[in-house]
Amino acid sequence: MLRDDATLDNSLTAWDRDHFFHPSTHMGGHARGETPTRIVAGGEGCHIVDRDGRTSLDAFAGLYCVNVGYGRAKIADAIAQQASQLAYYHAYAGHGSEAAITLSKMIIDRAPAGMSRVYYGLSGSDANETNIKLVWYYNNILGRPEKKKIISRWRGYHGSGVMTGSLTGLELFHNAFDLPRAPILHTQAPYFYRRPDRSMDEEAFSRFCAQELEDLIEAEGPETIAAFIGEPLLGTGGIVPPPKGYWAAIQTVLDKYDILLIADEVVTGFGRLGTMFGSDHYGMKPDLITIAKGLTSAYAPLSGVIVGEKVWEGLVKGSDMMGPIGHGWTYSAHPLCAAAGVANLELIDELGLVENAGKVGAYLNAGLRDALADHRHVGEVRGEGMIAAVEFVADRDDRVFFDPARKIGVQLAAAMLERGVIARAMPQGDILGFAPPLCLTEAEADTVIAAAAGAVEAVFDR
Ligand SMILES: Cc1ncc(COP(=O)(O)O)c(C=O)c1O
Repeated sequence: MLRDDATLDNSLTAWDRDHFFHPSTHMGGHARGETPTRIVAGGEGCHIVDRDGRTSLDAFAGLYCVNVGYGRAKIADAIAQQASQLAYYHAYAGHGSEAAITLSKMIIDRAPAGMSRVYYGLSGSDANETNIKLVWYYNNILGRPEKKKIISRWRGYHGSGVMTGSLTGLELFHNAFDLPRAPILHTQAPYFYRRPDRSMDEEAFSRFCAQELEDLIEAEGPETIAAFIGEPLLGTGGIVPPPKGYWAAIQTVLDKYDILLIADEVVTGFGRLGTMFGSDHYGMKPDLITIAKGLTSAYAPLSGVIVGEKVWEGLVKGSDMMGPIGHGWTYSAHPLCAAAGVANLELIDELGLVENAGKVGAYLNAGLRDALADHRHVGEVRGEGMIAAVEFVADRDDRVFFDPARKIGVQLAAAMLERGVIARAMPQGDILGFAPPLCLTEAEADTVIAAAAGAVEAVFDR
């Protein structure tokens, strides 16, 4: 329970600096007290409140994960009820809980056509780790042990484990970690604004990306390429929707060389684009789908790999040849998390949040464009459904980045926070990201847009 206690506040701040190793944080700066610390204490709808009583409209839904919004009693109650009835039992050797089995059925009912089974983990990273292992196992079972390489995209984000950090195509996640590791390769990012030749239109750039992919496959040897992984819309790498025709062009290449498609829907799954899955939104035909974040709206940690029928058949063959699959986590399909998932998916339907993401998301995107697109330091305003980004440039004509030392993105996010709104300074480039809870209202979208406009004015024009 929270206590209104200034002594405790001071102790928490000191303990935080002295003992808490925060992820994705400037370690020295935080330990020395040079960066702000914020102790978040509660949340309701699209807002969070900290121990100092400051409320913020969270226009990034935590880490684009609290999709139903904060403070939903239905999910909290489902977790509590599951905890008192059965907090844990494992899922090995055919065991399960009512919640995990029900959730599996609900996911497959909502998934794109041709999906078969769900394997559960606890994070997007571990789910992609599972994907890599399943792809390797599958090709070993099919008798083609050389077909192991996995192609990802520059600017893709797939986690920060050893292999998933390798899949990730952002330098921050590689530097000084000896990543990427073999056998992971990277190809062209579908980043239309920063295409190498500005005379290309969207379709031409999509063909260019597909050709780059094909050239890489040919250079490496098609018999060595197992899978291609991509987020339907690039997320952490800059919130970049694909150019027109991109996924159709990529799919043609994958089909030609018998390469599996892994759709990483950790961000896009369960409604963010205004459709249940990004794969359906863009007409992708994935063999494996990664899910996490929106599966429980982060009320409990749960991820999954949705396995398509073709891969499932190969896996079944594998256990007939070799016995039970040697892959499992203690907490796979944890009953508390599964109960959260069931309540969360019910809530998304009851509140019509997929539809709201499409409708209010379009309103938010249009409002950001109207307010900012003409600013001399705005290169591009882009987005889809309830996700958007504004990319800032030193020079609009030449699309020149600001000197990273100026930390323009960080300054803008700080200026937004002063105006009561959380947006995210994306990790590579001066890009402000927006991915509010899917329950955002138009009035709340207006607040986000006004704060963004105010922040831009404060940072550039004063
Ligand atoms: C597309 C995508 N895949 C995977 C991950 C990794 O998920 P986690 O941080 O839960 O390991 C993320 C996290 O942001 C993500 O955006």
